[in-house]
Amino acid sequence: MLLPPYQSASATQRSFELQPGDFAGRVIAVTGATGGLGTQLCHALAAAGATVVMIARSEKRLDALYDALLAAGAPTPVQVPLAQDKAAETDYAELSGLLASELGGLDAMVHTAACSAAPMPLGDVSQADWARMFAVNVSAARLASLACLPLLRASSLASLVFLLDYKPNAYWGAYGVSKQALHALMSMLADETEGMRDGSGHPRLAVNGYDPGPMRTALRRKAFPGELENQSPQPSARLGPLLSLVARTDRLQTGTALYHD
Ligand SMILES: NC(=O)c1ccc[n+]([C@@H]2O[C@H](COP(=O)([O-])OP(=O)(O)OC[C@H]3O[C@@H](n4cnc5c(N)ncnc54)[C@H](OP(=O)(O)O)[C@@H]3O)[C@@H](O)[C@H]2O)c1
Repeated sequence: MLLPPYQSASATQRSFELQPGDFAGRVIAVTGATGGLGTQLCHALAAAGATVVMIARSEKRLDALYDALLAAGAPTPVQVPLAQDKAAETDYAELSGLLASELGGLDAMVHTAACSAAPMPLGDVSQADWARMFAVNVSAARLASLACLPLLRASSLASLVFLLDYKPNAYWGAYGVSKQALHALMSMLADETEGMRDGSGHPRLAVNGYDPGPMRTALRRKAFPGELENQSPQPSARLGPLLSLVARTDRLQTGTALYHD
């Protein structure tokens, strides 16, 4: 079977916005919470009433985001400092235990954390960098998802979303290959879980991918240092399809890789 091809996000998905209260009482975890896209996503989810579980490696940046969310009137968020290149299975088991005991479960998880590098030929990528990018971009996403699967299965509106980036061409190195692997991981997990249906025939858990296209963030600046600030959109302009996947506006949608064109 071929990997599911990328599908262009619909106009409705591109313009999708959450309303205050849409996620009241929901617990949503975001990896890479302090990144360009992660920060905007946390704000949007919190403004809709979600309790946001912010997973990120820098305690200082986590503190700043925590303060910003509270100042905006969000439900008290939860900080989880975690260096995902070093984290082990036990760290994710601990995370899942914390979510169960302190927050009563988990409704969605969005994997935005990503490790990248300046473009270079495959032969110039050190094995240490290759391993670090696969650890963050693929292994950590797998471990976190699997550890939280029992909690997600217990939610009435469960969603897992992986941030994709279609870069299988020259000089994208470990980042490009790891994102292709993440696409396969998403597809496999969707396939393995799509048989679990609720009473209305909807998948209990939606597993999807989203490629937001170029966004003006640290990751983009590393790959295109000469690009002018106004040559790529802000991450907030690319949130619509991602929020629609988390909100499950299409209850049957699972195993798809959306992209923003
Ligand atoms: N920007 C684009 O043009 C673009 C295009 C297509 C897809 N995407 C995807 O969109 C997602 C978000 O990217 P972005 O543009 O928002 O990039 P970003 O601003 O660089 O954010 C990436 C996040 O990953 C975190 N991270 C990196 N290494 C980590 C580690 N070892 N442990 C824990 N966290 C780690 C970073 O932590 P710190 O906050 O501590 O740095 C940051 O929060 C990524 O999955 C990316 O592949 C981006």
